[in-house]
Amino acid sequence: MHAKRTDRCGNLRREDVGRTVTLCGWVAKRRNLGSLLFIDLRDVSGVAQITFDDTVDKGLFDKANGVRSEYCLCVTGKVRERGTDENKKMATGAIEVLAERLSILSKSETPPFEITGDCNAGEELRLKYRYLDLRRTEIKDCLVLRHKVCKIARDYYDANGFLEIETPMLCKSTPEGARDYLVPSRLHHGSFYALPQSPQLYKQLLMVAGYDRYMQIARCFRDEDLRADRQPEFTQIDLEMSFVDVDDVITVNEGFLKKVFKEVLSVDLKLPLPRMPYREAMDRFGSDKPDLRFGFEIKDITEIAAASDFKVFRDAVEQGGTVRGININGFADKISRKEIDSLTEFAKTYRAKGVAWLKFQGGEISGSFAKFITDEEKLKIASAFGAGGNDLILIVADKPKTVFASLGALRCEIAKRLGVIKKDDYKLLWITEFPLFEYSEEEERYVAMHHPFTSPMDEDKDMIESAPDKVRAKAYDIVFNGVEAGGGSIRIHDADLQERMFRAIGISEREARVKFGYLLDAFTYGVPPHGGMAYGLDRLIMLLADTQSIRDVIAFPKVQNASELMTESPSEVPEKSLLELGIKLADEK
Ligand code: AMO
Repeated sequence: MHAKRTDRCGNLRREDVGRTVTLCGWVAKRRNLGSLLFIDLRDVSGVAQITFDDTVDKGLFDKANGVRSEYCLCVTGKVRERGTDENKKMATGAIEVLAERLSILSKSETPPFEITGDCNAGEELRLKYRYLDLRRTEIKDCLVLRHKVCKIARDYYDANGFLEIETPMLCKSTPEGARDYLVPSRLHHGSFYALPQSPQLYKQLLMVAGYDRYMQIARCFRDEDLRADRQPEFTQIDLEMSFVDVDDVITVNEGFLKKVFKEVLSVDLKLPLPRMPYREAMDRFGSDKPDLRFGFEIKDITEIAAASDFKVFRDAVEQGGTVRGININGFADKISRKEIDSLTEFAKTYRAKGVAWLKFQGGEISGSFAKFITDEEKLKIASAFGAGGNDLILIVADKPKTVFASLGALRCEIAKRLGVIKKDDYKLLWITEFPLFEYSEEEERYVAMHHPFTSPMDEDKDMIESAPDKVRAKAYDIVFNGVEAGGGSIRIHDADLQERMFRAIGISEREARVKFGYLLDAFTYGVPPHGGMAYGLDRLIMLLADTQSIRDVIAFPKVQNASELMTESPSEVPEKSLLELGIKLADEK
């Protein structure tokens, strides 16, 4: 048995000088300077320098010289000051440990990539050997941050009277929203559980049961296409409250966010956070998750465009479209023709047919449609955008949906390309008053934008049948630097209103009973007014850690095609297992 560990590597400081310590960890680096040999020993807390002195103990020195990267060691020695050799970049840089004993706990193969901060190994390789990747400080810091935020959540909601309650993983499938992950039942051939997309219905049932403040750090599963901020299994900080309206849910959650920002980033979040109705967010930023770290706001020039001779604009307006644009103010000289072409191609991925542009530079106005409009119209456009100086206006004329989507994406893409987004800038806001319904072209009917239990705003209730597209919901999202970090709503607790809601989205009484009968029944036994929300924990951590990929904040993430590279899941199962479940695979097409 090796000596008992006394300290973690990263915790040693000047105050420890003179102590004899025993550390356990992995060899991050080894340097042999002839008569001195240094090993940087790494554990989860950080790194300490161990020094082996040839003139003090030759045998020990030779043993240390045989050690290689990632060997797992136990070292005993005396902490001493580094003096003039202090490394100010290291937390433990003021000290080193002069080794007296060394045990090699286990050897390591040469790792398939170097375990360093600026590791340039491809992500596939890193994920295949995720246990090595997890040794890197960058990933470890994210997991430590994640742990801290979970702890703050538990402490904060506990202090505010919330109970943490677990809800089932094996649930009834409710085919609304994303696709379910299904789990076949061995005891009920032909029947399937679904893994929860969220604990939504269970948490509402907990409200009926009287647990009036619930929270859970809940795993959710959604079989949907993955993106940089999406995983098929992810975690929510989920909560629900009774006897509340929108302001109550928002206020309690602002308290949580303030605590998180203070404790993990030492940033004082100013409360209350700004709120912006959905309609305004779409009009100004073309998105329901606007990034407020930069300007380039959208302006409407439909009226000017409709009166002009420029056919592209006129046709768009005649077909019920709109003409809007953004002013990339102060950057006309930084965006070349080639760059505009590339931005146009980018906008096309959002279905824009093209991007019209006007440049204001050195008192001159030029652009793709400058010759099709009068000088007066140019000035009107300039005035609509407040343009002059060194400005570039990019305009899209199309159906409103396409215009908002493409301009919304363009402003973010341009900000990224121009590098105008400052580090350590945190812009949070609530988006409120979402539409209750959205029209699904695919299904040719209205569907619930959030979910069918979301309450309409009191003043809009009467329009459910007459003008569904105008009804606003008591729904809210928290948006953090242009990412939806969480969202929720006040729920319907009135049976008549719920019935009208189902009818509006084409769910028959029978269908509602089959899908949600248990919830509707429960609501007949004294349902309290209630509402709540859920944060995407992974996204929240990703934003706080300022990483680009959600995979960096998940210990064992999945890749784009939903597989896990280390264990190689999903995988085939023996025929026998399928038989037991009563499953026969269809021939592949
Ligand atoms: P919603 O579906 O908006 O609401 O989800 C809440 C938050 O979860 C995060 N999220 C995801 N994170 C990673 N990968 C995914 N695939 C993924 N999907 C969603 C987002 C999102 O804001 N039950 C409701 C909440 C409520 O009404 O109380 C719900 O699940 O950050």
